[in-house]
Amino acid sequence: MKPSVTSSRRKGSADLRDLPAPRTEPSMKVPSLRPPLKWAGGKRWQLPHLRPFWMTRTHRRLVEPFCGGLAVALGLAPERALLNDINPHVVDFYRWLKRGLKTAVPMKNDESLFYSHRRRFNELLAAGRGTGREAAALFYYLNRTGYNGLCRFNRRGEFNVPFGRYARIPYTRDFSPYRRVLSGWEFTSHDFEDLPLEKGDFVYADPPYDVEFTQYAKEGFSWDDQVRLVEWLLTHRGPVVLSNQATERIVRLYETAGFRLLFLRAPRMISCTGDRTPAREVLAVRNI
Ligand SMILES: C[S@@+](CC[C@H](N)C(=O)[O-])C[C@H]1O[C@@H](n2cnc3c(N)ncnc32)[C@H](O)[C@@H]1O
Repeated sequence: MKPSVTSSRRKGSADLRDLPAPRTEPSMKVPSLRPPLKWAGGKRWQLPHLRPFWMTRTHRRLVEPFCGGLAVALGLAPERALLNDINPHVVDFYRWLKRGLKTAVPMKNDESLFYSHRRRFNELLAAGRGTGREAAALFYYLNRTGYNGLCRFNRRGEFNVPFGRYARIPYTRDFSPYRRVLSGWEFTSHDFEDLPLEKGDFVYADPPYDVEFTQYAKEGFSWDDQVRLVEWLLTHRGPVVLSNQATERIVRLYETAGFRLLFLRAPRMISCTGDRTPAREVLAVRNI
């Protein structure tokens, strides 16, 4: 489904005017590299909406406090970036990507190999060797081969995602093409609020979705965290683009904070249980 966009000119989501969706992605001088991992909530589909904000500001440092699967950074291809995610394993993998990781770890879409690699990955974590090259290569394999690209751990800190049962999985062994693109990028793994922003940074923030009607949000990102995020974004003097599910309370939160809102129809449905309503997402923009 093609995402579309609407924009709010005044308070209240009832008064939405349709704006034309960007026709296609503007042609890019550097072909963008694909995100190497499967990652929930990937925003590659938002690139046509983000480029108009970014293209006149490419001299700035791109900061993503929630970089996840790296879809946006790879799509915008900035010279300088600070990319952060609270998940340390994904960040360790990107640090190896930056070094042009080549992996000799056997990779096959095979259940017994998957569980043997999962065991080995957990042994490395338990031995304090989770930041090494072997752990990075295993993390990549487990992400591609495990169920839905999930990254879940049990109480003992062991990766416990089951085998994914895909028909076919393309694996990459040589990540050297990423080396040049990532050379000016710094990777960190903190809570977003600990990120040291510089005043001219271009911030693209894509937190876990606001999930209404549940006490605890997925990935432990609560309503208090959503509020903490808007307060942190308000302290920044440079351009900010925030992406989230357009729930009523998120729309109210960012409208009240004085952000300009653009509404997008996401290329996914509200639920996977038969409700065919397209999910509505919001870009909340500031200092642009
Ligand atoms: C929606 S995903 C980001 C997806 C990314 N924009 C992409 O296109 O692939 C949200 C990310 O926020 C991270 N996260 C959750 N809580 C966080 C926190 N308090 N600080 C920083 N990152 C956090 C999660 O690990 C997850 O990768």
